[in-house]
Amino acid sequence: MSYELLKIKRCTKKMSLMTYMEIRPFQLPDKFAVIRLWEECGLIRPWNDPNKDIERKLSVQPDLFLVGLVEQELVATVMAGYEGHRGWINYLAVAPDYQRKGLGRAMMVQVERRLREAGCPKINLLVRSENNQVIEFYKHLGYIVDDVISLGKRLER
Ligand SMILES: CC(C)(COP(=O)(O)OP(=O)(O)OC[C@H]1O[C@@H](n2cnc3c(N)ncnc32)[C@H](O)[C@@H]1OP(=O)(O)O)[C@@H](O)C(=O)NCCC(=O)NCCS
Repeated sequence: MSYELLKIKRCTKKMSLMTYMEIRPFQLPDKFAVIRLWEECGLIRPWNDPNKDIERKLSVQPDLFLVGLVEQELVATVMAGYEGHRGWINYLAVAPDYQRKGLGRAMMVQVERRLREAGCPKINLLVRSENNQVIEFYKHLGYIVDDVISLGKRLER
């Protein structure tokens, strides 16, 4: 098979998976699959209880917590919020077997559309400085590195 044909086949496969993924707001029965996905993607931190994170999100803009399904398998998530000034993105994840097929971009396109519709003028997000792969991913989507440092204060003990 010629290189060009192979490229077209790969591209068609990527496109069909992207159009095939159903993206919808999180529903409670998704919870275990979501937490498993976050574990697989290395997003769980000892200081963040995923159950509590999900519970809190369901009480604040739950429509900005999206999941992506391919043939009913939960393969992607993204959690966003808008506080009236900036939009924020957390828990963007695509299952390892489905990465580099356009699904991460598809999740971001959906959530950006929802934030834009809510009147949000700019999105901020935090990535660990050593996580070059994810920084590259966001750069591909038009994000630029802001010259800021991130500060935080925990309100919950
Ligand atoms: C980050 C993540 C969501 C990306 O999802 P994905 O489905 O693999 O990304 P996509 O296939 O949609 O890639 C979109 C674009 O980014 C590029 N890209 C993705 N990963 C990349 C990488 N590691 N290096 C360079 N470019 C990358 C792709 O080439 C693609 O570019 P194109 O559309 O111009 O061809 C996924 O890698 C992931 O779940 N990682 C683990 C969890 C994580 O770290 N989340 C972020 C927390 S801040």
